[in-house]
Formats: sequence, structure tokens, C-alpha cells
Amino acid sequence: MSEEYGFGNPEVIEEEIDILIIGGGMAACGCAFEIMPWLEKAKDRGVDIKVKLVDKAAMDRSGAVAQGLSAINTYLGDNDPADYVRYVRGYLMGITREDLVYDTGRHVDDSVHNFEKWGLPIWKRPGDEDKALSEGGKPMRSGRWQIMINGESYKWIVAEAAKKALGTENIQERVFIVRLVNDKNDPNRVAGAAGFSVRENKLYIYKFKACLLVCGGAVNVFRPRSVGEGQGRAWYPVWNSGSTYAMAAEAGAELTLMENRFVPARFKDGYGPVGAWFLLFKAKAMNAFGEDYQEKNYEDLKKFGYDSYAVGFKMGTCLRNHLMMKEMKEGRGPIFMDTPTAMAKLAENMTPKEVKHLEAEAWEDFLDMTIGQCGVWAGENIEPDKQMSELMPTEPYLLGSHAGCAGIWCSGPDDIPGTPDHYHWGYNRMSTVKGLFTGGDGVGASGHKFSSGSHAEGRMAAKSMVKFVIDNKDWLPELECSVEDLVEEIYQPVKTFLEHKDYTTAIDINPHYITPKMYQYRLQKLMDEYVAGVTTMYQTNAVMLEVAERKLGMLKEDGAKLRAKDLHELLRAWENYHRMLTAEAHMKHIQFREESRYPGYYYRADFLRIDDENWKCFVNSSYDRETGKWTLKKVPYAQLIKPADDESEAMSRPGSIG
Ligand code: FAD
Ligand code: ADX
Repeated sequence: MSEEYGFGNPEVIEEEIDILIIGGGMAACGCAFEIMPWLEKAKDRGVDIKVKLVDKAAMDRSGAVAQGLSAINTYLGDNDPADYVRYVRGYLMGITREDLVYDTGRHVDDSVHNFEKWGLPIWKRPGDEDKALSEGGKPMRSGRWQIMINGESYKWIVAEAAKKALGTENIQERVFIVRLVNDKNDPNRVAGAAGFSVRENKLYIYKFKACLLVCGGAVNVFRPRSVGEGQGRAWYPVWNSGSTYAMAAEAGAELTLMENRFVPARFKDGYGPVGAWFLLFKAKAMNAFGEDYQEKNYEDLKKFGYDSYAVGFKMGTCLRNHLMMKEMKEGRGPIFMDTPTAMAKLAENMTPKEVKHLEAEAWEDFLDMTIGQCGVWAGENIEPDKQMSELMPTEPYLLGSHAGCAGIWCSGPDDIPGTPDHYHWGYNRMSTVKGLFTGGDGVGASGHKFSSGSHAEGRMAAKSMVKFVIDNKDWLPELECSVEDLVEEIYQPVKTFLEHKDYTTAIDINPHYITPKMYQYRLQKLMDEYVAGVTTMYQTNAVMLEVAERKLGMLKEDGAKLRAKDLHELLRAWENYHRMLTAEAHMKHIQFREESRYPGYYYRADFLRIDDENWKCFVNSSYDRETGKWTLKKVPYAQLIKPADDESEAMSRPGSIG
């Protein structure tokens, strides 16, 4: 290969460890922090376990918490984990893995107590300012489950503790993992992973007994609302590109509820969060004519049975979106967040100094986690106490830890009464592939765990991975393909570029290759237009999906022609490959589920009803890397936590099969 573009043949570095943590976000940091004491225990039993963490970016600011956050959305405090399960299943339209959610609920607070110990400032109720949560200090809640923080440096703090625990010598930053490698002798077992440095001409091949795949969710699968110079802006962090789902699928792991997605309603153009405004400042959203559309459209929920998953005005995120979208579709937009009225009401009994503090809090909510929204306010001369701001539903994202539940089908804990066998087949948070574990956005069917729950889940996975390695201490991984094949595969876009670059005079225009940027545009356009993106107001049908299927098939074929003219493009090429596979899974699942389970996230216009009789179940898929084919099936939902009096009647309906 040529040196001209900064590429030679890459230096290949092979490493053998026992556990590889892939990703450096909340779940990865939880795992890194938790694992060390378990390694000590293993050592006492004569098993020496070596762990390594690789992140495509720098852990201090990697993943969804990069910009910081202004709230921790899951802290139970005095709440019962069973109520947490009820809240999650209500918000996710009745279908969740209650074992996994309960497990997160009973462990999550310990992570939050640690965050505070490591230096994260947590808002307290008056009088409790100096009392830690772990000593009974009462947090300032914005909602029943959410607590307010000064969280600009949240990720720094959590990453520092993780690095300190694991040791920086066991952490490799700026390595993008492209694929997992299965075992030569057992195709249903993971034995390694391969990736490359995004800064140096180096390729890494790891062999291991177990890995934690926690690369977050997927953004930029759909055409974003932002255009031109703002296109890098999205709600979800642009660096999480579906690696978790794509790599797991290729390794043979079953995915679940990949039809689900998250469409957050956000402050327009800057994607600023709405939680603090709705919950803490008690602001109301309204249509262009000042009407409360939630109240006005409530009856509409009844048309297709959507009301069965709402209890009065208490309803999940997708249903709230549905009420908003109706206004927009029927021409009564824009939607406004009435910040002036909310602030005036709050200021009624405040001193001028307290009012100033309130204004600062309004800005800080954005400064802590979505600085760009402050840019919009400043740039458009918006003073929130004087002028309302527009809200807008964003393009769809795939994730499993926020208000969505796409992800990998995982084994759960073994101590929750009533757990059916198909929920528990081995180690906690292990996928259907031996040795492949996940957490956070990776674990499907268990959303609403957020930053704290993702950290807690990484910790749970740490413990069960160590047990897995101890139980398999004499097993030696053997990669199913040769190192040469892996190098060839990963550097193919570079080779394609070098072979054909002189065919034309314009480097980006060439019949022999496709640039990662063009590939991404094609993916985004077809997902947007056929798979319920913003262009069709989140609607699709069987015919549109058939077209999408064909176009995705062609895009997949063209993946072999991706080019990389530098390391940055090599990263973009593989990110987009992961996005494409994630998109395909999403499309296949939407095609399979013939109902509109998540109105406000997407609509099957040909099946607009919620159909509990046939579809109160999980949809799981598996992918065959050799044939490129997906297989889908229904998997029974089991209710483990009894419905409470304040839950809707639909919640007590049994699953549709099994
Ligand atoms: P992440 O934390 O996103 O970590 C993913 C990691 O994988 C990153 O380190 C990334 O660099 C790495 N990675 C990706 N691909 C690869 C690859 N191929 N190879 C190697 N490494 C890779 N939660 C709250 O509690 N409160 C909030 O207010 C809140 N606000 C949010 C606001 C936004 C805009 C978003 C997007 C999320 C918010 N969340 C909030 C949710 C929270 O951030 C997530 O639940 C949590 O970060 C998920 O953890 P994770 O480890 O699964 O993924
Ligand atoms: S964030 O994660 O980017 O901060 P956001 O600010 O919207 O998201 O919401 C955070 C939390 O507030 C989530 O737990 C979400 O479910 C909740 N939330 C947001 N808006 C509402 C609302 N109108 N009613 C109830 N809960 C809400």
C-alpha cells in the first residue's frame, strides 16, 4: 500500500487477555470500576484474570454523557423497585423484560451514591445540603425518578473512577472495534475482536474468553433535521453508530425489540432537553394558537386503542409525542414551550435574588448538557422569561437505555420469582452467544435506566463475566479466521481507494468506489423516506418497507465498495457499515410487527391499532453473517410484577403467546 495518504500496511498488534470491555461510556465505566474486587477474589481461587478496555474516543468525554447532564434520571431513593418496573413497562407500552428492569432498579442507587462520593454535585432539599444521599440526604427531584445535578463534568468524574480502578495501562483509547470474531471450534461463542487505531496506522486483534460490548446506541441512521453546517448536530451523540447492535448481530446474538426507537421532543434546532422544563419548572407546551394540545387531543388516543396504555394524563413518551404530532400534522404547529408563564409562576413568591438564580438554572440546564441550545437562545435573542421556544420531535434514534428499548436479548438474574426459562439461560447480561455480554444501550427490552442504570448494569455484567471466566478457566479461544483475513477485511476500504484513486481527476467522483459520506446520505434518505422518518411524519407501511428492503439490499452490496482515503474515512466507512446493519434490523422488525405499538415513535399506517391479542410479545431477530439473512420470531412476554391499582387495565393483560 502507498504511504502517500498516510497509510502503509498497518502494524498488527495481537493481544490475548481474558475480558475485553468494548466502549468507554457509562456501562463500560461501571464495569471497569466494579471488576477489580472480583478479580482479586478470582485470584484467591487461583484464577488470574486480565482485563482490557478499548474506546474509540477518549473516555473523559466519550459516549452520550460527553457534554455532561443536568439530571440523573434513575434514582430510586424511597421508591420500591417493583414500582420502577411498573413505570418502565407503562412507558414502554406494556412489553418489558421485568427481570432485567427489577435488577437495575434494586442496584442503581449504589452507583449514584458512588458518583456523589467521587465528587458529582447533587442538588439537595433545603436543610440537607451537606448530607450525602448515602447518609439519607434528600435529593432535589424533578420527577418521581429523576434528580437534579450540576453535571457538566459528570463523565469526567465517572471516567476518572473507572480509570483509577482499572489502571490506565489496561485502557486503550482511540481504537475503533470493527467486528467480533467467533470461536473456531464453537460458532456460538465469541473468542476475539478486531479494530484499528483512529490515530495511527495500527490494527488491533484481541483474543479473550469474554467481552462486554457496550458501544451505545445509533444516531444518523435517519436523515437528521439539521442541514448544512449544522448537520453534525443531533440529539444523540454523533459518535455512537450502532456498533453494539451490528457487531452483536454479526456474531449471531439475538436482538430484541429493534422495531422500537426513540424520538425525543426537544427544543428546536439545539436539541435542548425538556425534562427539567416539564417536570421541575412545570412549564406547559401548547400549539400555535395557545391551546393545550394534550388535553385537546386526549380523546384521539381512543381511536386506535392507544389510551389503553395511558392512565389519565399519565402516559409514556411516545404517547405524549403522538398528541403533539397530531397538531403538527393538522397544521396547528409550531409547538411552543411556554417558558415565560412557567418562570413568572415560579417567581411569584421569590426575592429578586432568587429570581436571578432561577434564570441561571434555566440556562444551566442547557449549559450542563446541550450547550448548543444556549447558542440558539443567544443567537436568536431568546430570553426564556420573555419569549417562548419551539419544540420539535427529532429524527429517530435507536437505543436501549433512554426512553427506548431496542437491543440485545440477554439472560437475566436467577433469583426473581416467576422468571421463565427463556429469560434466564446462563450468566446475567450475557447474550445468546457464549461469552458475549452487554449493558446500557446494549441490553434490549429494558429502557429507562438512563446514565445511572447503565453504569449499574456495567457493574452487574462485570460480576457475571468474572464468574463466566472462572467457570471457563481452561478454555482457550481460537479465532475462526486468520489474522491476514482480518487485516484484509478491515483495510479493504483503503485498498479500494489506493487501487482506483487515479481513475478520475476528482478524488470524490469515481465509479469504482463510494465515499462514506455519500453512503451515509443514501442510508439516511431511504430510512427517512420509507422507514418512518420525519419526511412522512414517522409513518410507513408494508409497501414502503418492501421498497426499503430492496434499497437497503443494494446499499449493503455497495458496502464492499466503500473507500477510505485516510484514517478518518476508515472510521467513517465502518461506522456507516454498522449503521446500515442496525438500520436493516430496525426495518425488518418494523416489517414483522404488524401493529403500531409505539405511536408517536412510528406508525404502521396499514396497522394503526395496538393489537394486544397478537402482538403483546417481544420480537426477536437473528442474523446470518454468511447469507446476510435475518430470521424473526415472536417471543412470549411474562409479567413478573403484579399490576398496581393505578395502572391501566391493559397492563394486566397477559402476553399474546406462551
Ligand atoms: P455511552 O455512554 O453512550 O457509551 C458508548 C461508548 O462506546 C462510548 O465510550 C463510545 O466512544 C464507545 N464506542 C462506540 N462505538 C465504538 C466502537 N465501535 N469501538 C469502540 N468504542 C466504541 N441519562 C440521565 O440519567 N440523565 C440525563 O439527563 C440524560 N440525558 C441524556 C441526554 C442525551 C442527549 C443522551 C444521548 C442521553 C442522555 N441520558 C441521560 C442517557 C445516558 O447518557 C445513557 O443512558 C448512557 O450514557 C448509556 O450508557 P452506555 O454505556 O450504553 O453508552
Ligand atoms: S434528557 O435525558 O435529554 O435529559 P429529558 O430532559 O427529556 O431528557 O427527560 C428526562 C426525564 O424526564 C426522562 O425520565 C423523561 O421520561 C422525563 N420527562 C420528560 N418530559 C416529561 C413529561 N412531560 N412528563 C413526564 N416525564 C417527562
